Amino acid sequence: MSKRIGILTGGGDCPGLNAVIRAVILHARNTFGWEVVGIRNGFEGLYEEEYVDLDPARTQQLLARGGTILGSSNRANPFAYPLKLPDGRTEIHDVSATCMANLAKLDLGGLIVVGGDGTMSFGQKFIERGATKIVGVPKTIDNDLEATEMTIGFATAVEVVTEALERLHTTAESHERIMIVEVMGRYAGWIGLTSALAGGAHVCLIPEIEYDVERVVEHFHKRHGRGVSYSIVVVAEGARPKGGDYAVQVKGDVTKQDKLGGAGQALAEAITARTEYEVRTTVLGHIQRGGSPCAFDRELGTRFGVKAVDLIAHGLFGHVTALEHGRIVAKPIAKAVKKLKLVDPQGELVAAARAVGMELGA
Ligand code: F6P
Repeated sequence: MSKRIGILTGGGDCPGLNAVIRAVILHARNTFGWEVVGIRNGFEGLYEEEYVDLDPARTQQLLARGGTILGSSNRANPFAYPLKLPDGRTEIHDVSATCMANLAKLDLGGLIVVGGDGTMSFGQKFIERGATKIVGVPKTIDNDLEATEMTIGFATAVEVVTEALERLHTTAESHERIMIVEVMGRYAGWIGLTSALAGGAHVCLIPEIEYDVERVVEHFHKRHGRGVSYSIVVVAEGARPKGGDYAVQVKGDVTKQDKLGGAGQALAEAITARTEYEVRTTVLGHIQRGGSPCAFDRELGTRFGVKAVDLIAHGLFGHVTALEHGRIVAKPIAKAVKKLKLVDPQGELVAAARAVGMELGA
């Protein structure tokens, strides 16, 4: 087999990507003597032929570094690619044939695609068109990939939100306020509910459970009735009131998804319209994606990187690395992209939240 493998990171970045890259370089070089080529900015670099040699010197100080040294893009859909024309206009083109040709030129023994559902589905389409030597590593702070119990980046995002909630507790109490914290996660409530449990939130609204604002207000009244005059509310960006719509900041198109945002503000307005309580809203935004990965993401990233190289070594292409019952296993990429992994409204996580008195809006 070719003595060279490739790696790219696609979609939104997250903490732990560099741990994957580091593990891939070290395992490929040290165990198999393979060279590793990095493709810049996800599939954009494959189209533009932007490559970087990843030698072991690149692994210094990499484990604790946030982001991705390869760069990433969540607009690099090779099947609907925004091409800049000489006159400055942008046109959408399918550039997948060029990507396939560039991949053939690279003559890789395997390509590791590190990404979320979007990047994985591009990988799957390339496999279907004949680029069969692809393996995947699942990453996203949203933790919404069906194939794996945990994605890289999720644990760090939860740490960040939990710390923010702790900080907001004290100021909320001092000023007797309702503090709303809007968190990421798109259409999945994993970040919201997990950090609400860890950070002792009193209310948590997630996309999987449409909320009734009257019920939320009632919860505040009950707390006040007991002499507790502040509340911490976690609102996932994809949360919506019963019969209402997602809060969309920027409408998506064929090249990108809708940009969510504003769910916290909408809830604040609904509470203010119904009560005298003082309400403040904090949007954590990309702070949840930036900075150094927590220990778990460094470890998971390393194990996923090692497994991805092993999959190539064993010719087990078309699979993603996955965490299952504490072990790293391989699952078909097709399974990773079939449907989003969502919080089960009847599941144990939700039951635990209810059991400790958290209001979920329904
Ligand atoms: O999918 C990861 C994620 O951080 C989502 O939680 C969020 O909705 C989205 O990406 C934000 O994307 P962008 O970086 O394009 O603003």
